[in-house]
Amino acid sequence: MYILSERSSLRHLVCVVFMETSSWFLLFSFLVFIGDVAVSTSVSVPSQVRAMFVFGDSLLDPGNNNNLFTAAKANYYPHGIDFSQGTTGRFCNGGTIADHLSTLVGLGILPAFNNPNTKGTNVLRGANFASSASGLLNDTGVNYGDRFPMDAQLEGLTEKILPEMARNIGDGTTMEEYLAKSLVYSNMGSNDFITNYLVLTSYEPTLYTLPEYHNHLIDVYIRQLKELYNLGVKKFLISGLAPLGCTPSRIAGSPNYSESNPKCADDINQIAIQFSAKVKTMVHKLNKELVGAYFLYWDLYTDMIEVLNRSAYYGFKHVYTACCGAGRLNSIILCLPNVPFVCPNRSEYMFWDPFHPSDAVNAIIAKKAYSGKLQNMYPMNVQQLLQL
Ligand SMILES: *[C@@H]1O[C@H](CO)[C@@H](O)[C@H](O)[C@H]1NC(C)=O
Ligand SMILES: *[C@@H]1O[C@H](CO)[C@@H](O)[C@H](O)[C@H]1NC(C)=O
Ligand SMILES: *[C@@H]1O[C@H](CO)[C@@H](O)[C@H](O)[C@H]1NC(C)=O
Ligand SMILES: *[C@@H]1O[C@H](CO)[C@@H](O)[C@H](O)[C@H]1NC(C)=O
Repeated sequence: MYILSERSSLRHLVCVVFMETSSWFLLFSFLVFIGDVAVSTSVSVPSQVRAMFVFGDSLLDPGNNNNLFTAAKANYYPHGIDFSQGTTGRFCNGGTIADHLSTLVGLGILPAFNNPNTKGTNVLRGANFASSASGLLNDTGVNYGDRFPMDAQLEGLTEKILPEMARNIGDGTTMEEYLAKSLVYSNMGSNDFITNYLVLTSYEPTLYTLPEYHNHLIDVYIRQLKELYNLGVKKFLISGLAPLGCTPSRIAGSPNYSESNPKCADDINQIAIQFSAKVKTMVHKLNKELVGAYFLYWDLYTDMIEVLNRSAYYGFKHVYTACCGAGRLNSIILCLPNVPFVCPNRSEYMFWDPFHPSDAVNAIIAKKAYSGKLQNMYPMNVQQLLQL
C-alpha cells in the first residue's frame, strides 16, 4: 500500500492556518464539505445489502488519516462532540453522510479500513476508505501530507478488506456473489480542484485547460469504477460535487465578502456544476456499457442548495457561520484542538467547521439520497436500487 507525501510543505501549511489573511485561502482550503450529526437512528430495518464500500475525501472520512503524517486529520476534540463513538477522526460534530446512509440501509456505522481493529467478521458489513485531502489523482492534496488517493483506497479494498472478508464469509457465498449484493458509494473529485488544480503550486493547469482537466478526471474515474465492477460490484451510488463555493471558509475568504449579505463564491460553484454534469454523463454511459450494473447519479449540489435555500424550514439559524472556529464567520481560525470555539447548539448550524457540514445537514442529505425525489437521484434513489 502506498501513501504519498510531501513532508516539507506541511510545516508551511500549519503556519498558514493561523494567518488571518484571506489571500491564503486558496492554498489551504482543503477538505471540502464533510460532516454529520450523532447517528442515533437505531438499526431496525433488516439489511437490504450485505456490505457497503465508501470512497471519498474529508466529507466522508471516518478517521483513515489518523495515523498518517498529515495536516488533514480531525482526531481531536471537539470533533466528534456529538458522535456516538466520540472523537474518531471525522471532520464533524457527529456522523458523516456515509454514516447516516449506511445506517439507513441497515448496516450501521462502517469501520474505517485503516483502523488496526478493522478485521474479523466486522468487515462483512463493508468498510469506509475515505481519506481527507485525497482525490481521484495521486498528487491531489500533496500539500497536506500523507493521504489515500482513490487508487490507494481501491488497493485498501483489494489488499486488505476483501481477503479479510473472504476469510470470514463462511456460508459458502463466493466473493463475487457477496459483492453483487453490496453497494459502492463514491463521492470523489472535489479535492482534485480544491487541493490540486486551483492551488497556485499545482502543475496540472500547465498540462490541461479546465475542460480538459474535467475529461482527464473522468477518464481516471471510469477506469477506477470499472475495477470495482470487475471485482463483482453491481450497485453504485456516484455523487456529484457539493456547492464548494458555499463553505464558510470560501465565503469569508472572498475579496467580495459582505457581512450584511454573504454570498457563495460563484466561480467555484460553476466548477462544481460543470464537473458534476460530466459525472452524470459518465454514469449514463456506464449504465449502458457495463452489463448488469446499476449506477446512480446523486445531484448532491442541488440537494445541498435546497437545504441552504430553505435553512429555516430545516431548523437552521446559522447558514454561513461555522460552529467551530473563530474570526469572520468562525472561519479564519480553524477548529483546532483545545481551542474553546464551539457553539452550544450544533443543530442550529449548517456548518460544523469552515469546510464541513454539521451532523444535522448530513442526516438530511443522506435521507435525500436514500429516499429522495427522483430529479436529484438519477435514475432512482438508493432505497429503490437496493430492492432490485
Ligand atoms: C497512482 O500511482 C499508482 C502507483 O504508482 C499507479 O498505478 C496509478 O496508475 C496512479 N494513478 C493515477 C490516477 O495516476
Ligand atoms: C468579486 O466581484 C467582482 C465584481 O462583481 C467580480 O468580477 C469578481 O469575480 C468577484 N470575485 C470573486 C472571487 O467572487
Ligand atoms: C435557491 O434559491 C435561488 C435564489 O432564490 C434560486 O435561484 C434557486 O433556484 C434555488 N435553488 C434550489 C435548488 O432550490
Ligand atoms: C437547538 O436547536 C434546535 C434547532 O433549532 C432546537 O430545536 C433545540 O431546541 C435547541 N436546543 C437547545 C437546548 O436550545
